[in-house]
Amino acid sequence: MPETFDVSDLTEAQARLEIVQLTDRVAKANFAYHGNDDPIMTDAEFDGLILRLREIELRFPQLKRADSPSDRVGSAPSQGFSKVAHSVKMFSLSNAFNQKDIADFDDRIRRYLGLDTTFPLAYVSEPKIDGLGLSLRYERGHLVQAATRGDGNVGENVTANARTVADIPETIDDAPEILEVRGEIYMSHSDFEELNKKQEESGKKTFANPRNAAAGSLRQLDAFVTKDRPLRFFAYAWGETSEPLAKTQIEAIGKLGKFGFATNSLAKVCGSLEDMLEEYLEIERQRGNLDYDIDGIVYKVNDIGLQTRLGFRSSTPRWAIAHKFPAELAWTRLRAIDIQVGRTGALSPVARLEPVTVGGVVVSNATLHNEDYIAGLDSSGESIRDGVDVRVGDLVQIYRAGDVIPKVAKVDLKKRPKDSVPYMFPDKCPECGARAVREEGDAVRRCSGGLACPAQAVERLNHFISRAAFDIEGLGPRQMEMFYNDTELAVREPADIFSLQTRDMKNSTRLAQRKGWGEKSAENLFAAIDQCRRIPLNKLIFALGIRHVGEVAASDLARQFGSWDSFAETVNGAINEPSAKVRDAKEKRALLAESPNWLKITGIDGIGDSVAEALVMTFSQNAEVESIKRLVGELEIEKVEMPEASDSKVAGKTVVFTGSLEKMTRAEAKATAESQGAKVSGSVSGNTDLVVAGPGAGSKIKKAHDLGVEIIGEDEWLALIGGA
Ligand code: IVH
Repeated sequence: MPETFDVSDLTEAQARLEIVQLTDRVAKANFAYHGNDDPIMTDAEFDGLILRLREIELRFPQLKRADSPSDRVGSAPSQGFSKVAHSVKMFSLSNAFNQKDIADFDDRIRRYLGLDTTFPLAYVSEPKIDGLGLSLRYERGHLVQAATRGDGNVGENVTANARTVADIPETIDDAPEILEVRGEIYMSHSDFEELNKKQEESGKKTFANPRNAAAGSLRQLDAFVTKDRPLRFFAYAWGETSEPLAKTQIEAIGKLGKFGFATNSLAKVCGSLEDMLEEYLEIERQRGNLDYDIDGIVYKVNDIGLQTRLGFRSSTPRWAIAHKFPAELAWTRLRAIDIQVGRTGALSPVARLEPVTVGGVVVSNATLHNEDYIAGLDSSGESIRDGVDVRVGDLVQIYRAGDVIPKVAKVDLKKRPKDSVPYMFPDKCPECGARAVREEGDAVRRCSGGLACPAQAVERLNHFISRAAFDIEGLGPRQMEMFYNDTELAVREPADIFSLQTRDMKNSTRLAQRKGWGEKSAENLFAAIDQCRRIPLNKLIFALGIRHVGEVAASDLARQFGSWDSFAETVNGAINEPSAKVRDAKEKRALLAESPNWLKITGIDGIGDSVAEALVMTFSQNAEVESIKRLVGELEIEKVEMPEASDSKVAGKTVVFTGSLEKMTRAEAKATAESQGAKVSGSVSGNTDLVVAGPGAGSKIKKAHDLGVEIIGEDEWLALIGGA
């Protein structure tokens, strides 16, 4: 058995082999334990495998797989908990790192609401607890469900575990009929120390920091384990409520306290930007004396009426922001630079480091962004780090801010090894050998192998099955890679996922008989795949992995076009139009009149030329088009339903705002219109139903006249949407 070798005696080849064997044994053990509920080894044996794997990875970090099970142990597998759809999305927060970011935040809010700088706008500042978000649902005062944040829309059902937390009341008096209380699960420093001591004494794995300990404890499949873990909870927000809690944030916090929740005593009303910045410094001073980790402070608009008007972006509220404490830094040696190939073919350099603790977390990988960054240049060609390049062997400073991927920030030239050489960025794809090309104006070098490049193909498949896309239960990156490499199952493109079962039936060795699988898990996978055949249009567009088309752009496109056919027809129509063919922005605009399809795409508010170019590029490649066609043939694509307010008079209408509005800002007008199911477009065309014109409106009014589009004023608009 290879385990008999001391890790320090292993050659790289032996280590590589052993990593494969250990990974395989861990996968089997995991499957037997969680998938079949039938363990094939004791916990101690399992821990031994992981320990050995970690030791080898520590010595040979370049061999560590991105999906190594050594990173996952400690948290229960996600399939262990049932899923819960949040009735009100659990949002996250956008981050600010300096005073200017906060001044900009205040500025943005004032502009959005149309308030001038003298308007007394109050904010509540609260510590940002470094734990895990949790949503607690109470019906008629009884706790009925607890769910983790998950991706914000769907979390994990951890009700049994939450019931064991002393800060979480089982019942509350005088509560609204429905009340979702949201807050943070965390572990205090003192409890964390004690827990780690106990873990050590009983030979169990210790936790790297209180946050990991809290996460590992809450996500225990056995609630009895959670019960023994000293978890705490601060309430600071709410989801669905059958009646409003209060008129201000600070009163709402008070109300949550009255219901019996622990709330943070450092929450405070700040009357001005100066107050906010002062409070930040004050909390930073107190940080070291607090018995729990905080990673910044959160400012929230105090007036809940204004919060409602400000609303949300796709994943963050406009009315709140996290002001993060400065990043943490540490020095370590750069052992190697690896190149990873992403789904768009981007070659991303990754720094493999001698493991180092940065703010309580062990870091062994960091990003090096791109070849310019390694060479000491920023995106505009200016020098960074005084133009010092990064070389293998260098002593480098690691910078870690919150959850963001750590990066290599500085190089200590005095400690540079004498024989070091500048890093040569590859001009061939390390995965498929195709030429790696860097286009003018692009900081990124990309593999030109397209779908023939296995790394790109696998990454595209992984994107396709990611949470915000098809999110197929039981199908993660590990399975995807196996299916991709398997000559019989051969999942090479998204459509192949949907024909997997048919192919499997023809194989001599069925999936159910393969290593790590069983009847039940194969059956579950096929059922999960089938369930995903019905897919909303926005998710499909996002899942295609087209450059620049993120979740928001995909939703904008889906809302505009409503159906796949209309979307595909327009993009196909745009391919040969003059605007799609020129790159010069001015020239492009001049050709818009002859480019109706291009205009339909770029006329969507929030969609620019780069998205349109990427769509046209994808739809002009034969192989791509054929692959998409095969996929669409497997699916039932749900048309986009216009949101809630379908009884609104503007639902389904395409509206253009022009000139200056007086009662609300353009941004607020757009958000309100969309919340009532209207589409907001930036330009007037034959598709426009309504133009809302304020003073100073010019050419758009003329165009609307010419096209016979209805033109109304701001007051009429407000009356129409019921806001006057
Ligand atoms: S408010 C809609 N307040 O930080 C507003 N979040 O980085 C949602 N967090 O997901 C969040 N302390 O888990 C809020 N005082 C606080 C917080 C807080 C910690 C967490 C929360 C959120 C994450 C975003």
